[in-house]
This record gives sequence, C-alpha cells and structure tokens, in this order.
Amino acid sequence: AELRRDEQPSGSVETGDGAASRGCGAAPAPGSKDKPSKKTFSEVQEERREQAQRSVLIHCPNTVSEKKFLKYLSQHGPIHTHFFYESFGFYAVVEFCQKDSVDSLLNRTQTPATGTEAAIPFRSRFLYLKPKGPSSHAAKQSLARSSNHLPPSKRKLFELLCSAESVDDQLNTLLKEFQLTEENTRLRYLTCSLIEDIAAAYFPECTIRPFGSSVNTFGKLGCDLDMFLDLDETRRLSTQKSRGNFLMEFQVKNVPSERIATQKILSVLGEFLDHVGPGCVGVQKILNARCPLVRFSHQASGFQCDLTTNNRIALKSSELLYIYGTLDTRVRALVCSVRCWARALSLTSSIPGAWITNFSLTMMVIFFLQQRSPPILPTLDTLRASADEEDKCIIEGNNCTLVRDLNKIKPSENTETLELLLKEFFEYFGNFAFNKNSINIRQGREQNKPDSSPLHIQNPFETSLNVSKNVNQSQLQRFVDLARESAWFLQQEDGDRPSPSSRQPWGLAALLLQTVAPSKRVQKKLPSERIKSLLESVKSNSTQSSTNTSGKQALS
Ligand code: CTP
Ligand code: MG
Repeated sequence: AELRRDEQPSGSVETGDGAASRGCGAAPAPGSKDKPSKKTFSEVQEERREQAQRSVLIHCPNTVSEKKFLKYLSQHGPIHTHFFYESFGFYAVVEFCQKDSVDSLLNRTQTPATGTEAAIPFRSRFLYLKPKGPSSHAAKQSLARSSNHLPPSKRKLFELLCSAESVDDQLNTLLKEFQLTEENTRLRYLTCSLIEDIAAAYFPECTIRPFGSSVNTFGKLGCDLDMFLDLDETRRLSTQKSRGNFLMEFQVKNVPSERIATQKILSVLGEFLDHVGPGCVGVQKILNARCPLVRFSHQASGFQCDLTTNNRIALKSSELLYIYGTLDTRVRALVCSVRCWARALSLTSSIPGAWITNFSLTMMVIFFLQQRSPPILPTLDTLRASADEEDKCIIEGNNCTLVRDLNKIKPSENTETLELLLKEFFEYFGNFAFNKNSINIRQGREQNKPDSSPLHIQNPFETSLNVSKNVNQSQLQRFVDLARESAWFLQQEDGDRPSPSSRQPWGLAALLLQTVAPSKRVQKKLPSERIKSLLESVKSNSTQSSTNTSGKQALS
C-alpha cells in the first residue's frame, strides 16, 4: 500500500455501525463513563488535544486487512489506539504513541498525481491509503470493522425503552444510547486538530479549541462541532523585558473594531477552508451574526462545524456545564432526556430560529436542580466562592472565576429519583412565571426580568445577555403546553406499566416516540388549561407526588 494526501471525496456525510479497538490508558471521554471523572476541565482538554496531535485520519478501502494496515503503519512507530468508521467512505483514526511517528509518516507520504484534474497541494494529517495490488485486500474474517457514530434508530430506541425496567432505567438507557462515545470524542478533537493545521497556514501559533456540547458532557451523537480560533499566543505581549532604548512592536493592520478584526480573520479562513482545506465542503461565512462564524461540513468526520474566533467566554461556559455534568450522575441523564423530549416534540430544531435551543434547555435543567430541597446542584455563586487564588479568571472584563477542582465540592444529599425529577421538571416549568421572572443560575433564584423577551435566561458570565433572546412567545407557549401535558401524562402513568410481553409503549417510550405509537399519547392528551388545574388539584391532594398514586386518582 502507499499513502497519499487525500483528494476531497464527494458525497454526503454519515457514519456507520460496528466495533472499535481501545487504547490502553486512554482518558475517558467526557460523558463516556457512568462514574464521573474528577479531572479538571483543562486537564481533559489538554490530554485530548495532545492525543489528537499524535493522530492521523486515513481514508482507506473497506477491503483493507486490519492486520496489514496496522503493520504497515507501525513502521513509523508504535500505535496507541485505532478505530475504523464509515462516513460515505471508510476511514481510520490512528493514534501513535509518539508525535515523531506522525512526522515520519508524513515524510513518506506523497501528493497525488491526478490524471485529468489538478491537485492543490497541501500537507495535512488527513491521508489516503491506496492499495498497491490485489494482495492488500483482506480475507473476510480479517476485514476491519467500523465503530458506530450514529444515534440509535427510532425503532431500536422504542424497543430498548419498552423493555426497560423502570422510568429511571429508561432515562439511563437514553443517556447510554445518545452520549458521545470514546471514538466519537476522539474524532471531534482530531477534527479540530486538523482544522488547526489548516488555520496555521495563516496563523502559525494558533490553536483551534472545541467548545459547546462536544466538550461540556452534554453532547449527543450527531451534535454539531463548535470550535474557535484562539490567537492568544500570537497576541501575547512578550514577557521578556527588552533592554536598551527602544521597544520593538510587530507591524500590524489596524481596523476600526474588534468585531471587524474578527470578520476579517474569519473571512480569510473561510476562503481558505473552502478552496484548500481537505474535506471541508459547504463553507458558509456568516459574518454579520452577533457572533460571526464560518459554518462548514467536515466530510470525512461527518461533523457540521461552526468556527468562531475569540470565544474564551463560551469555553468558560462549557467548563461550567462540564462541572455541573460531572458533579452528580443524574444531571446528564436528565438533560439528555429533556433534550430528546424537546427534539421529539419539535420544540428544538437543527435550523436556527425562534425555538428554544439545547443550551437554553440545559440551563433550565440546571436551574431546576438548584431549586430542589436539598439542592442537587450548587449555584454559580457557590462555585465561585469555593475558588482559590489560582482559579481567578477575568475575560473581557467579566468575572469568570470558578472552582476547578471538583473534589472540593461536596456531593448533594438529595436522593430523588430520575423519574420524580423528570416529572417535577415538567411541572415546574409548566407553571413557571415566565412573564415576570428570569432564570438565573448564578444566584439559583428567579429574578425579575430585565426586559420584555418572552423567555429570559441570564448568560452565566455575560450577565447582560439573554441566552434565549431568540425565543418568541408562541414557541415558549408550546414549551409550556407540552411540559404540562407531559407532567400530566407521567403522573397518570404512575404504576401503570404494561407487562413487558405486551410491547405497549409506556413512560418515556410513549412520551418521546409518538410517531411510532401515536394512539396512546393522543388518547391521553388534554387541553393545556385543564391539565394545569388538574395538576394543581394533584398537588394539593398529595404531599409526595413522587411515589403515591393519588395524582392518578385525582386525574381519572
Ligand atoms: N452559547 C452561548 N449563548 C448562546 C448560545 C450559545 O453562550 N445564546 C455558547 C454555549 O457555551 C454553548 C456554545 O455556545 O454551549 C455552543 O452553542 P450551541 O452549538 O448552540 O449549543 P451546544 O451547547 O453545543 O448544544 P448542541 O448540542 O445543540 O449543539
Ligand atoms: Mg453545539
């Protein structure tokens, strides 16, 4: 076989199914283990980044023999981990033990000689493995198998949820099926690392950092890959005091504002990704947005990427969510179910618009968990109060200080079940005074709304911003109606689990997958106002709505 740099293959981008190999001593993916990792956010980021730098992405024939493939690559040094996956083409991620091995491999890689087309030469760690002859084809049993990067199908989900033992079990099953896998997490960091190589053609000291749901422990298979160009290294003032009578500065271009600087940088990067970036297709420059960005599809990984610059605050809010997602095992399960619920009922969409976003939903779950008695999550003010001198962090004048060492935070004494929490979440927001109050996770208390936007969720670090400014009244009303309907539905279902053999949808299966089994949900649907008054009567009739069935009696 011989390796050459990839010609951009055409076709759309989805990934396949199968198994994967695991490396020894690999760091757990944020969100890939049941036991919370107590590593700090920056430790995880550094580890993953370093892993990605030792890795290459190889487009290879799906007839490749795994053994021969690995033997061929090991010429350059020992391999730490590898896995294969499908994305309209067959790909391998290979992580070497040492970075030198990658250099050795690249030094033996050639630029393709094309026939009728012309190649735009570019050296990157995205490669193409070309078989030299028929002998490189594998016998059936030694074919490489691919790992899964797709969320489960509706049918599979339906079966899994129906055969679960309890609603708690259903929530945990959803999380297990949707959370980012170890392989998918590696591929996300590797993709950022490959984009960094491209961006480095303009800004040699730049870093491309992932943020958002890829790193905050709340990612679902198939979610977008948010990344930002970090130029702090280029910007940094020299710390060495210059001697003599002069001070030396770089000659730079000046523009009227930071925003224009951002637009210019993203504009050239967008052009470069479009014209030269291997595997980058569908590049859109969205430079007039509040936060200018370049959106593109990274074909080989299958990720929809959003590239911004200077997004240190968003990285900090990813760290905040990481802390919340890691502190208590119930948080990720609840967020995952609420996200799935909102998606199934079309409250969220992959198209930007006036609907609620996943980020807003996550903030709502966190806020709700701060309201429990005893609280399941600490307020942001508490996280700040536990910080020490080294945790201090001010970004663009905003105090973003957070305690980084999670071991310093006492676990919650609250033992409520996921089933109860999900019900209460729907009920809480089904009755929230959205017209008057703002959701504020900093103080963990409702606050008066500072403006008239229908839904107001204070941005945790840029406190003058509303995270859900985009949401209009009718989308908020849909959320409230469906929350009430779902609270009522789960209340009514209490203890009403059909026998497993009947394969009747129940609990989350009935709530989420109404397209598979519409009859049951529709049958139980009530007008929203009626649900509200029924819920109130349930509340006044019962002291503990979690375990008793008085709610059901009151409703029937
Ligand atoms: N963000 C923000 N304010 C907003 C929207 C986004 O601060 N109004 C930041 C958050 O840190 C968020 C990140 O930008 O996590 C990425 O935004 P987005 O992709 O919309 O949300 P994700 O959390 O990544 O969720 P998803 O899985 O839907 O992509
Ligand atoms: Mg995202």
